[in-house]
Amino acid sequence: MRFNFFKFIKMDFENGENLQWEGEEPTSLATDLVDKGIVKEGTYLLDMGCGFGRNSNWLANQGAIVDAININEEELGKAKERAEGLGVAVNYVKADAGSLPFVDSSFDVLLDAGCTHMCDRETQEKSVKEAARVVKQGGYIQYFGFSKEHPSYLRNPNSSQFRDLEDIKRQYGEYFEIVGEPARKEWTHGNDKHIGLEILMKRK
Ligand SMILES: C[S@@+](CC[C@H](N)C(=O)[O-])C[C@H]1O[C@@H](n2cnc3c(N)ncnc32)[C@H](O)[C@@H]1O
Repeated sequence: MRFNFFKFIKMDFENGENLQWEGEEPTSLATDLVDKGIVKEGTYLLDMGCGFGRNSNWLANQGAIVDAININEEELGKAKERAEGLGVAVNYVKADAGSLPFVDSSFDVLLDAGCTHMCDRETQEKSVKEAARVVKQGGYIQYFGFSKEHPSYLRNPNSSQFRDLEDIKRQYGEYFEIVGEPARKEWTHGNDKHIGLEILMKRK
């Protein structure tokens, strides 16, 4: 029987994979932006594929002006509820990463914490163009996604989920340059090992 990677991913989510990002603590992807002074009071930030809002809510609490999109309405509802509970203002909107409902040059920073690594290649390509359109010149993308070192990559080498630095340069290089050294992230969830890449990019 042929191994069905997408079924595997879906089952994995149903079995609690998304518990990893259902928590309320921000990831280092978000906290790094503040530590490096890239996000400060008044920074316009888009959290693309915001999940349950852990990063959006925290960044708004740091003084950023946050828009957050998600294709998943259930998660958005939970994110909004949490923002209300925390008393932070985030503009949560249902939208697709490949078609952003914002005018050109709206944002200083776009956070892609595992969003486009869940998209097919066509949506990824659209999303790159949309990111280039909505991020101001000199603005940033903070990107994270599974890398080709991920143990599941060999089972499905054609999946758009796994990208290495060369893939990111190929997709984003026309509009964005890599800033600093990409960071390799490795973690385990249950019995599964995950390996990803965190990359900061600057709009040319
Ligand atoms: C791995 S989760 C990460 C969630 C969040 N960024 C975090 O770190 O907690 C990926 C998120 O991207 C969303 N997503 C996937 N494809 C999307 C698309 N085409 N447009 C918008 N959001 C999408 C999913 O619904 C999910 O919320």
